[in-house]
Parts: sequence; C-alpha cells; structure tokens
Amino acid sequence: MMAQQTLFSRVIGTGSYLPPDRVTNQALAERLAANGIETSDEWIFARTGIRARHFAAPDVATSDLAKIAADRAIEAAGIDPQSIDLIIVATSTPDYVFPSTACLLQNKLGIRNGGAAFDVQAVCSGFAYALATADNFIRSGAHRTALVIGAETFSRILDFNDRTTCVLFGDGAGAVLLQASDEPGVLATALHADGSHAHILCVPGNVSGGAIAGNTFLHMDGPAVFKLAVNVLEKVAIEALDKAGLSAEQVDWLIPHQANIRIMQSTCRKLHLPQERMVVTVDEHGNTSAASIPLALDVAVRDGRIQRGQHVLIEGVGGGFTWGAAVFKF
Ligand code: UT7
Repeated sequence: MMAQQTLFSRVIGTGSYLPPDRVTNQALAERLAANGIETSDEWIFARTGIRARHFAAPDVATSDLAKIAADRAIEAAGIDPQSIDLIIVATSTPDYVFPSTACLLQNKLGIRNGGAAFDVQAVCSGFAYALATADNFIRSGAHRTALVIGAETFSRILDFNDRTTCVLFGDGAGAVLLQASDEPGVLATALHADGSHAHILCVPGNVSGGAIAGNTFLHMDGPAVFKLAVNVLEKVAIEALDKAGLSAEQVDWLIPHQANIRIMQSTCRKLHLPQERMVVTVDEHGNTSAASIPLALDVAVRDGRIQRGQHVLIEGVGGGFTWGAAVFKF
C-alpha cells in the first residue's frame, strides 16, 4: 500500500478592498457634534489607536466589497475562478437574512461550477473560524481551492448616537485563496466560544412578522470585552503555536484582530514579540470585524513585509463570545 501523503492548505493569493469614503476622527467628531454627541480625535486615538475608518456608500453591500477583494486575490494567485470549489464568507453584516453572502458572491464572481458556498458567523473572530473551516475541508480532501473572505459593512449597524461604539468600527473586505498542497501551509488552528458572554457584544434584534423586533444596533460593553480579550488572546495564540510545534520567537508576523491598539500591544508583549513584528492597520481601518485580519494580511503581503516561507500568527476575539487563532507558513 502507498503511504498516504499529508495534505495541507496553502495561501496562494490575498486581496482586500476599502470603500473610498475615508472618515477621519475629526470629521466623525464634527458629524456627531451636529447631533449633540461629544467626542474628539484625542479621545479616540488615545483609547484605541484609530485615526480614520472607511464607510461604504448606502447602495454598496457586503458582497460588493467582498467581490473586489476576491477579484484582487484571484488576480494575485493567477488562477481561473472556476477552479474555486469552496467559498466561505465570514460576516456579521450579510446582504440579506438569506441567501448567504457567499452564494451572492459566487454569482457575482460568475462561478458556475456548483462548488459549496456558505457564511460563517463568529463576528470579529469570523476570519479565524472561516480559515480553520476551509483548512479542514481542504485537508480532508473534500475541496481543493477555497476562497476565504472576511467582509463587513458595520457602519449599517452603528448607532451614531452612541459614542462608545460608533467611533470604533469601519467597513471593508479581505480575501485569501487557500489551495491543497503537499507543502505547508496552515500549520494549526484553534477555535473557542463561550455563549454565556453573549450579551456583552451583540446586535440583539431580528426580523419577525415583517418587522424588526428588538434592537438592531450594535451594543458593546467595551471594558468587559477588553478584559476578556486580553486574557483569551494570549492563551489561544500559545495553544495554536503549541499545536504547530512552534515557539513564539519563530513567529515572523503577528496579525491580531484590529480592534484596539492597546489590546494588540498587550498580546504582542505577552508573547515576548517585538512590536515591529506586529502588523497594525487599526489606525487607518478602525475595527472592521471579520475583515480586519485578512485586510491587514493583504496590506503586509503587498507592501513586501510578509515573504514566502515566513510564519504568520493570526488571532481574533469577538461577539459570541468567540476567539480563535491560526498559524501558517506563507
Ligand atoms: O472587535 C471585537 C472586540 N472588541 C474590542 O476588543 C473592544 C474592547 N474594548 C475597548 O477597546 C475599549 O473598552 C473601548 C475603546 C471601547 C473603550 O475604552 P475604555 O478605556 O475602556 O473607556 P471606557 O469605556 O471605560 O470609558 C471611559 C470614559 C467614560 O467616561 P467617564 O465615565 O470616565 O466619565 C466614557 O463615557 O470615556 C468616555 N467615552 C468617550 N469619550 C469621548 C466613551 N466613548 C467616548 C468617546 N469620546 N467616543
């Protein structure tokens, strides 16, 4: 009998897209002041590290952002889109209740091969969840080429009368193409959830009887999320590294979920990694939820920081409460 060869999933291309409307803290503060809400560039930057975020135009949907990011990843990988037999979109701001944003995206990409397409809902941990899912599907042999996307239009669920949340989030999309390979590849993933904390970060509404029931604005107990985040992020990063058989010092690039520079720096310190090895986009993107990690990854790939053969550690935390990490060799 022939020895079974280990199958890996490998990143063969990345892409991203930010809608053109860049809103600085100052511009946002002026907009909020018109509603009697007080905030400032100083407060936002000092507490979060955010300088600006991008907002999608009202007629632009999450699948539109995802489409441009996907096109860029497909171009970078140089593959025929018809070879994509799995599409996973991580989003908490889908175009519709259903069909999934992934199915809408498959159609917009003109993919007619009958491959699988579905959404993953793990809020800001969504990309880690989607990547882990695609990796498992590829390693099982069920699929060969996966388009893994994080895409969000969080501006749609922000309450611009709530200064504790509306200054934090932005819109965007990031895409990664994973393909089956004999070479590594994704080395390890780790996912977790604790639903008992569902209420600290949520959009507690739904559609019922043709109307909106409950509240469809994002609600967050920021300090409670902060405390949980700094605790679980270090643990899950170490768990993923242990599974991959790597030490933290072998990590070339840390790409944390971009929510708050203070949380990101704390994780980086706890892992004893120099801050220069962390990719930071929160200043220019704000918190784009599931899109933040693949957006940051694409930025660092395209500006030449991330090189083939280097080890990349991603990690995220978000509503659910969910958290996860992945380590891959680029
Ligand atoms: O993406 C999913 C994961 N999410 C996160 O990781 C977010 C985690 N949490 C955070 O990043 C931080 O908790 C925040 C950035 C949301 C808030 O920072 P904080 O240092 O925890 O501030 P705080 O909520 O304790 O508020 C401090 C003060 C309060 O005033 P008092 O009570 O001290 O008088 C707030 O009312 O800052 C006030 N404040 C603001 N002031 C000006 C809250 N928001 C604003 C604002 N502008 N936009």
